[in-house]
Amino acid sequence: MNILGIETSCDETAAAVYGSVGLLSNIINSQNIHHKYGGVVPELASREHIRLILPIIKKSMADANLTLNQLHGIAVTYGPGLVGSILVGLNTAKALAYALNLPWVGINHIEGHIFSIYLTYPNPKLPFISLIVSGGHTQLVYVEQFGHYKIIGRTLDDAAGEAFDKVAKMLDLGYPGGPIIDKLAAQGNKNFVQFPRSIIKENKYNFSFSGLKTAVLYYLKRLADHEREKYGADIAASFQAALVDVLVEKTFIAAKNRKIKHIVIAGGVARNSYLRNLFQRRAENEGLHIYIPDPIFCTDNAAMIAWVGFHKLQHGIKSDYSLAPEPGLKL
Ligand code: KG4
Ligand code: ZN
Repeated sequence: MNILGIETSCDETAAAVYGSVGLLSNIINSQNIHHKYGGVVPELASREHIRLILPIIKKSMADANLTLNQLHGIAVTYGPGLVGSILVGLNTAKALAYALNLPWVGINHIEGHIFSIYLTYPNPKLPFISLIVSGGHTQLVYVEQFGHYKIIGRTLDDAAGEAFDKVAKMLDLGYPGGPIIDKLAAQGNKNFVQFPRSIIKENKYNFSFSGLKTAVLYYLKRLADHEREKYGADIAASFQAALVDVLVEKTFIAAKNRKIKHIVIAGGVARNSYLRNLFQRRAENEGLHIYIPDPIFCTDNAAMIAWVGFHKLQHGIKSDYSLAPEPGLKL
């Protein structure tokens, strides 16, 4: 069985083929046009998806060494994300499925992130605790089995990746800020400033990053331009540590309280080197198993959509042509 996956929920135009033997191709185009605006411009994203979607699908088929007639189904993201962006991928999937007379299925982007782990490791055992940390989402999810999820914590304001991007903007580092802060922080001292670690009392599994963001802003306001330059790496490292320490702490509390031995991390922020190291070290110390996807499967990709689609279609779960984009789709 060969399944074509399509992902266009934000600013990555991506297509991949997942087959019975594993991943056959994985093409991702990250749209560069947004960089000069310091964030994703929805209208430009939709237009780029229209321009790129067919060439990207063709390339994914060529890389997989398959023709369209050798496909058995199509999987496509239908939410959450930007409505105009989702529409391009979803309508392309519908048109292809109709023309080729194939079954197809709409996939929740977050579900894709959770299961992206199986593209790197075959063995994370269910149930597991999943921490999803991306530009749009920060959630702690109890994954009981495929299709059965319980959200146990979420951000009350910014997503983790959004906080990285906004602090990078304050430091004039460019967009997307996560990878730039990661690199800069490697040369800095994480104990340079003690930024606040937010612990939320009502639900200890919820997150909040707006206080941290404001603390960085006020700290920077007190500095002269040459000091910002001089201490940029230290401030980046201190911010990164404050944010990641909270992610790690809450994830381990959730796993321990539920007596779960397996933790899975997903989403763009899971590429962060400090986060990867800290989770690994802590897991070794506490005898838990931590699984973090290869970096290419952390940020948005269609391989994770194809993987979930493969397993849904295998269980006979299909969509019909009335399915519409759901920008606010929940898990
Ligand atoms: O999962 P993703 O590609 O898109 C969403 O579904 O939102 O995540 C993108 C986010 C951006 O905010 C980006 O700054 C962040 O992931 N990111 C990182 C790193 N690489 C990407 N954040 C911290 N450290 C990184 N190395
Ligand atoms: Zn994503």
